[in-house]
Amino acid sequence: MADHFPPDIDMETPSIARMYDYLLGGKDNFEADRKACETLADGIPELVAFANDNRAFLSRAVEYVAAQGVEQFLDLGAGLPTAENTHHVAQRSRPRSRVVYVDNDPIVLAHGRALISDSEETAFLLADIRRTDEILAAPETRRLIDVDLPVCVMLVSLLHCLPDADDPFGMVRSLMERLAPGSCVVFSHIVSEDPRAGAWMTDQILSFGTPWGRVRSPQEVFAVFDGLEPASAWPDGRDEEPRVVDCSTWRRPGVDPLFRPADPSVRLWELAGVAFKR
Ligand SMILES: C[S@@+](CC[C@H](N)C(=O)[O-])C[C@H]1O[C@@H](n2cnc3c(N)ncnc32)[C@H](O)[C@@H]1O
Repeated sequence: MADHFPPDIDMETPSIARMYDYLLGGKDNFEADRKACETLADGIPELVAFANDNRAFLSRAVEYVAAQGVEQFLDLGAGLPTAENTHHVAQRSRPRSRVVYVDNDPIVLAHGRALISDSEETAFLLADIRRTDEILAAPETRRLIDVDLPVCVMLVSLLHCLPDADDPFGMVRSLMERLAPGSCVVFSHIVSEDPRAGAWMTDQILSFGTPWGRVRSPQEVFAVFDGLEPASAWPDGRDEEPRVVDCSTWRRPGVDPLFRPADPSVRLWELAGVAFKR
């Protein structure tokens, strides 16, 4: 397998993109990534379900946003391609949808370009999401995204990768200020109401030597919705709370949205929502 990886890949330090790929059943990962996931799964038995639920949320959210008429997607921290990627889902309902995938892991770029070749509608960008100006100014972005029209900014399972020192929520605010009304965020973030459970996961990941941020409390991550209007999380779109919910229950047919998993023994979950700039 190693022969199709870029030569500058560090195989010894787990990478979030490759760990997530492993959890989703992918093959683009190394021993160090698999071991790291197993260590985490010792303390978080629902880890695999966690990743799969998050990815299913991404698909439902893109389908919903495309149905609202949005045709431009900036998929930040896109991760390794899987069976259903953002442009596949968006183009099912809006064939003209354009997607710029952004990730700072070179493996994502290499595999992204190999599996989803750049086309008239998609592009891959190797960039750090903290460098918003460079992402917006990149030729790929300028070719595919018109910031005077609504843009869907995808921040799915991403901002917990950034430490507070990087001001992840301030970065999102300033990015959204530059986008047209009708733009939206698709957001999920690992949270816990139990500081010890959150600190355990954070400490484990940092101990691998993997760049990461931290698990935050639900109240902390609500900051991403400041100034935005969260959409209904109910599958029938009813105008009711909760709107920011456990990702496995967001607009999932036959399921009532729940703020947190019903099982009280589950102490970490991926809090998710979609919110529009009006
Ligand atoms: C858990 S994965 C999520 C992938 C995808 N968004 C999803 O939810 O299915 C997080 C991704 O964010 C990327 N990432 C982390 N920090 C980043 C940064 N500073 N700039 C760009 N990408 C980053 C990682 O490389 C990884 O691919």
